[in-house]
Amino acid sequence: MSTHRKAGAITLTSLKKMKRAGEKFVCLAAYDACFAGVADKAGVEVLLVGDSLGMVLQGHDSTLPVTMNDMIYHMGCVKRGNEGALLMGDMPFMSYASESQTLQNAAALMRAGAQVVKLEGGAWIANTTRLLAERGIPVCAHMGLTPQSVNRIGGFHVQGRDTSQAQSIIEEAQLLEESGASLLLLECVPVTLAKTITEMLEIPVVGIGAGPETDGQIMVLHDVLGISPITPKFVKNFLAESDAGIPGAIEAYVDAVKSGRFPAQEHCFH
Ligand code: KIV
Repeated sequence: MSTHRKAGAITLTSLKKMKRAGEKFVCLAAYDACFAGVADKAGVEVLLVGDSLGMVLQGHDSTLPVTMNDMIYHMGCVKRGNEGALLMGDMPFMSYASESQTLQNAAALMRAGAQVVKLEGGAWIANTTRLLAERGIPVCAHMGLTPQSVNRIGGFHVQGRDTSQAQSIIEEAQLLEESGASLLLLECVPVTLAKTITEMLEIPVVGIGAGPETDGQIMVLHDVLGISPITPKFVKNFLAESDAGIPGAIEAYVDAVKSGRFPAQEHCFH
């Protein structure tokens, strides 16, 4: 086990304490029991069963084809391999389009093992966030580049580069915290925008392609191992430097985030 992991299971309270203490936390998207166990032992604090599985496991060119059944299956696998990490599960495309669908699908994901559900969107998910939070289901709001909206955005592009878009992201992040979100995830936004939001919010903020200033970092397992078909600017192959195989690569990722060495300048957008 990595020397970073404190005894006991990670909770949202642990992440809030880490934010207040200025200690970075580490998240990883993983999809099966074996890798979940390796990541948990390496000191990863949050395991995300991400709908990125549609791209890295299923070979689709977006996350849109992923179903609730896919998410429930992989959540069950990860739960069986994990001991102490907090488990977060993605609500896939169109699984939170109406109130009744949202409640039914979020409950199914929680029954499969999720402790937090992640939804993509800004102001339009504020009511959904409140609906879930009031019923005891913690929400992570995913903002910035939201891959489920790839067709509307017109590609996997950096978000919040112009002042008015950056201002909307700031205001909507504030609204989502007020609506009961427990975590915020920022994907592919400029470093300064991520810094402003992280300092403004009380809830922990996790980043991917959002620079070093967020409270935590997240990467997709296949990117950490350098085996994804595409390698965006913000990812790093930790297996290339590991002399202890896959467990060593995941530990190196944990160490690099905790020590502030990752993400470095070359992984950031400005
Ligand atoms: O689906 C996923 O794995 C994600 C991460 C890339 C943040 O949303």
